[in-house]
Amino acid sequence: MNVSDWLKFSTIDRLRSSRSEFIQLAILLLVLGFSGRAADGPAKDNAPKLIAPAVSIGTGLLLEPALTLPEFPREKFEAAMATVGAEKIHRPWTNAVVPLPPHPRAEVKGLTHDEAKAYMMEAKRRFDAGEAVPLSDVGLISTQEDVIRKPMLNHIAAFSNEVARVYLLVQKTYSDNGWSYFSIVQDLTVSPPIDYFAEIRKTGPHFEATSCYKCHASGPLAIHPAREDLVLDAPLAAAIGQFIADQPRSVLFVPEDSPKPPTGEPLTLKFCARCHAEDGDRDRLFQVQSHPIRVLVDFGYMPPNRRLKPEEIAQLKAWLEKKP
Ligand code: HEC
Ligand code: HEC
Repeated sequence: MNVSDWLKFSTIDRLRSSRSEFIQLAILLLVLGFSGRAADGPAKDNAPKLIAPAVSIGTGLLLEPALTLPEFPREKFEAAMATVGAEKIHRPWTNAVVPLPPHPRAEVKGLTHDEAKAYMMEAKRRFDAGEAVPLSDVGLISTQEDVIRKPMLNHIAAFSNEVARVYLLVQKTYSDNGWSYFSIVQDLTVSPPIDYFAEIRKTGPHFEATSCYKCHASGPLAIHPAREDLVLDAPLAAAIGQFIADQPRSVLFVPEDSPKPPTGEPLTLKFCARCHAEDGDRDRLFQVQSHPIRVLVDFGYMPPNRRLKPEEIAQLKAWLEKKP
């Protein structure tokens, strides 16, 4: 290569490289510009991934075939949801979790039962006044319930301040007339946090454990719409799902008049008990949780990051079929 060739070559090369630097700079500016805008925009711009649709992966663990809910075309679902009061649901939002004012008692260590109930009533009041941001869906586990096997229509709203996370569930089956109210309050002022579960009756919240423990051993549950189109605001469902997933490990408050049901044997299979253990991310699982276990595994939600191998499914099946 002679000198002039070398010069020519290197000039073109330099030109090329300066052009690529220019392109890189332009991309950088573009990215900065966009992220700058995203930071000013609504929280939705950093939206979490949408919840994967519930599709059976065919483990053979379900006791009955998966519900396909043919009685629910989208329009009928929307109409049924709106009977709660169309103005209360499917509302525009920027923050999926409604902020509550600071707790009235400073430096609180342990909410009183009355305070927990007051948070539940406040959540209901806001929902009734159209001041909540509820997601509306037909939930997966209830529709698979081996006993009821009826689709449950759910409106779920989340609220929080420094001391508490508050959840409201407004629910009915398709054939029920009225809507029922349930709530979970997580007291964050103690370690581990305490979860209060209640049905909100005409007379006010009534704490319960017996009827909730079976599905909710470790507090609030991930949102899982039973069918992709049976949810009114999928990005909101994902955002509330994210808030629930970020919750601290908590313990269930068990009132005297509503004890834990008999649990049966613990699930000790390593591929579950790695996380579901005394000192794990979630509480231990027992035979009483067979139904949610069958459903969440068959729909590929559990374990969270991989599929079970056939021999693992067989081990789980054998455990599920043991008599309590
Ligand atoms: C058959 C299982 C089952 C039982 C029993 C049950 N729940 Fe749930 N619950 C669910 C499922 C599944 C969801 C999420 C539903 C969805 O995706 O819409 C849920 C959601 C909730 C939520 C909204 C926050 C969250 O966890 O996602 C509240 C509040 C709630 N339940 C309260 C209660 C209370 C109080 C009881 C007892 C009186 C109870 N539940 C009993 C299955 C159950
Ligand atoms: C890597 C950790 C991990 C593994 C392994 C795992 N789970 Fe989970 N599991 C979670 C988390 C986190 C949640 C709560 C969030 C959710 O529901 O997505 C959960 C929720 C559940 C629930 C709902 C009740 C609850 O505790 O909230 C059931 C039932 C469940 N898992 C069953 C199983 C079974 C059965 C296996 C084994 C086949 C399994 N899980 C393996 C982390 C795990």
